[in-house]
Order: sequence, then structure tokens, then C-alpha cells
Amino acid sequence: MKKTTPRLYCLAHPKSTNAERFRSIRTNIRYSRVGGEIRSVLVTSSLPGEGKSTIAANLAAAMAENGRRVLLLDGDLRTPAVHEVFDLPNGSGLTSILVEQARWQDCIYPIQELEGLHVLTSGPISPNPAELLGSTGMKELFAELHNHWDTIVIDASSVLMPFSDALTLARMAEGVLLVVRSGKVLQKHAATAKQLLERNGARLLGAVLNRRSGRRRRYAIGSEELADWVTASGPRKG
Ligand SMILES: Nc1ncnc2c1ncn2[C@@H]1O[C@H](COP(=O)(O)OP(=O)(O)OP(=O)(O)O)[C@@H](O)[C@H]1O
Ligand SMILES: [Mg+2]
Repeated sequence: MKKTTPRLYCLAHPKSTNAERFRSIRTNIRYSRVGGEIRSVLVTSSLPGEGKSTIAANLAAAMAENGRRVLLLDGDLRTPAVHEVFDLPNGSGLTSILVEQARWQDCIYPIQELEGLHVLTSGPISPNPAELLGSTGMKELFAELHNHWDTIVIDASSVLMPFSDALTLARMAEGVLLVVRSGKVLQKHAATAKQLLERNGARLLGAVLNRRSGRRRRYAIGSEELADWVTASGPRKG
């Protein structure tokens, strides 16, 4: 893995403000489940490109830093990115397991720089991602993975799409984080996505504002501007 990958703040720049913000998101969501630690978190957004993969990867890293065994699962089978973020091959992964061409044990990558963090990439693009994600095999795999990791972080597709991949996975996860890229229009879409998720039985943990500012394409992770519907357990600007 390229240690300098700028998107992996927690590994490449562990002392940066953004790395600290991921740690505070981790702390805020850790005990958001009644009766214990949260066991699975799905990361989604209303529209593509808002920062889901970046945030899922950093959140998983921040959780592993805390001594947890964490599996980052690429559940975005149409535009997978986890393998790119960690510079891993993607010849086999989730799709290969679901079509029974591989065993999950053979598809998991340990991340050497961070003990406790493992990655399951998407696998090759499949012609029927919605069916695969909604299959009994997916539910069984998810339950099996829970036996081996403390927390599963899922990088999902966007919600406002002509397919229901994100909603299908959101029903499986214990909690959902909604990534919102800065900008008024995107915040309006985020509110629609939130409604859809809740109507489908997902449990919203909070929103993460992924803000791009200035010519230098700097990003800040926070949530202040979404104050009216970010839950108390959601991430705060750190
Ligand atoms: N906080 C961030 N820091 C640095 N780069 C970022 C950040 N957020 C997003 N980006 C950049 O913006 C682009 C989109 O981010 P990312 O891939 O995480 O979004 P996504 O929501 O997963 O997209 P998709 O809908 O295609 O899956 C990437 O090129 C990524 O490097
Ligand atoms: Mg992505």
C-alpha cells in the first residue's frame, strides 16, 4: 500500500486535523447501539462522488487504531474503489464469493500498516449486483463475517440511484452514516436520502460533511452545517 495515499489521513497523516476528526466520528458512533458497541456501519451518500469510499476507509482505519478488529467491505459493486484506496488487486472479492467462485477466507487482505484492519474488495464487476447483494448468500456471508470481526464498515453505493443496492445493504447494517459533500443542493438531496433510508428501516447514526474548500482542494470533515438533522450521536466538528 502506498503510505502517502493522501485520502488515508489516518495512516498517511495520523496527526492531521482530519485524522483527528475521523477519531471523533469513531468515538461518537461507537456506543450508538443500545447494549454495546456498534457492529456494522454502512457509509453512503445521496449522490455519487461525495466521499463515501474515502470516509469509509478512514473510519475503518480509525476504528482499527483503537484496537478493534475491523473489516472494510466494498459493497459498491458498480463503482468499487476500496481496492484503489488501499492499492490492492481486485481479481477476486465479494462478487466472487457470492457466485461461489471463491471462499471468503481467500479474499481478505490484512492491512500491514494497521494491525486489526482487513479489507474485502468488491471483486470483478458483476452483471447483476442488486441480486447478489439481496441474496441469501449475502446475508449468510455477513453473519459469518460478524463472527470474525468486531466491526464491519461497508462502503456502499449512493442512495438516489435507479437501483436499490445501498438500501438493501442499509437494512443489513446496524447503523448508517450519510456523507454529504458541501453545497446547498447536495444537502437537499441528503435530506431526501435520509427519508428513503429511514423508510426502508435503516438506522441513521449521523451525517459527515465532506467539505472541499479553496483552490488547493483541501477537505474538511465535519457536520456543523447539517445541525438540524444530524443526530446527537453523530459526528461533530473536531
Ligand atoms: N476528504 C477527502 N480528502 C481527499 N480527497 C477526497 C475527500 N473526499 C473525496 N475526495 C476525492 O473526491 C473523489 C470522490 O471521492 P470518493 O471516491 O471517496 O467518493 P465516493 O462517494 O465514494 O464516489 P462514488 O460515488 O464514485 O463511489 C475522489 O477522487 C477522492 O480522492
Ligand atoms: Mg466510492
